[in-house]
Amino acid sequence: MPFDGAISAFHDRDAPAEVRRAIADSDPDRVLTPSFPYAERLGKKPYERDLRALQIELVKMQHWVARTGRRVAILFEGRDASGKGGTIKRFRENLNPRRARLVALPAPSETEAGQWYFQRYVNELPAAGEIVFFDRSWYNRAVVEHVFGFCTEVQRAHFFGQAPDFEKMLTDEGIHLVKLWLNVGQAEQLRRLLSRERDPLKQWKLSKIDVEGLWRWDAYSGAIRETFERTHTAHAPWTVIRADDKRRARLEAIRSVLADLPYDNRNDAALGLVDGQIAGGPDIWHA
Ligand code: ADP
Ligand code: MLT
Repeated sequence: MPFDGAISAFHDRDAPAEVRRAIADSDPDRVLTPSFPYAERLGKKPYERDLRALQIELVKMQHWVARTGRRVAILFEGRDASGKGGTIKRFRENLNPRRARLVALPAPSETEAGQWYFQRYVNELPAAGEIVFFDRSWYNRAVVEHVFGFCTEVQRAHFFGQAPDFEKMLTDEGIHLVKLWLNVGQAEQLRRLLSRERDPLKQWKLSKIDVEGLWRWDAYSGAIRETFERTHTAHAPWTVIRADDKRRARLEAIRSVLADLPYDNRNDAALGLVDGQIAGGPDIWHA
């Protein structure tokens, strides 16, 4: 078994008492994070109904992007197990995969490490008519690379100096850039990682970073806070998605993206209103 029970060991020995208590008391229908705006998870029926309505809108949006030659880039960021992959999957489920491309770059190769940091991401930007989903992005440098010491302080300072200008070039160029931050609480994250550790079909999702990251919760929190301070700009704002309830997170992520795009035949009733307690600016983020 990979990592040999390291996640259980963290839970048993090192997790904060309130985290352990939240997991011990947990009822699968309830949300663990005390600051989450709803006590109960969204039920399966309303979830499936809304997801279907929103996926129909996504299909229309994709047609519009293709017809008008727009370019859309959507960044998914968040701690391990915040649900980035699962959310992207719901976005792409009914889209034409050729025009709804997934980009999940591995750690930089030696050659890439010698290039301008943004270079390999530039190669993946959308062409006319394309939507690109970034499962992690250039924000690796701001958070995970910092927390694990994979970059120097100087490299990180350059990153923060350049990222707002880099993103301004993209938006001036006409690329529709969306930056989503999936925000998960500590107990919920640990519960998800424990379930991955136990499930032979999910163990592949676990990495050394996920395991070691457990001990670095506070370092992540500091790096995330700083990222919002330095990169939440008028031209490229962050949208924080409270992701402790996966169903609500997926719906509100899709809704926020659609709400911002003037696609044809938009059905405002189907789209509904974004739930501002689940999707909002960095002020709704919670460590
Ligand atoms: P994921 O959560 O995307 O499945 P991991 O948890 O393994 O992946 O790693 C988190 C992120 O850290 C990934 O984007 C990965 O590329 C990056 N990463 C891992 N090792 C390094 C490294 N040595 N240098 C730079 N980035 C790294
Ligand atoms: C997520 O769940 O956020 C990602 O898709 C996988 C991970 O935890 O690394």
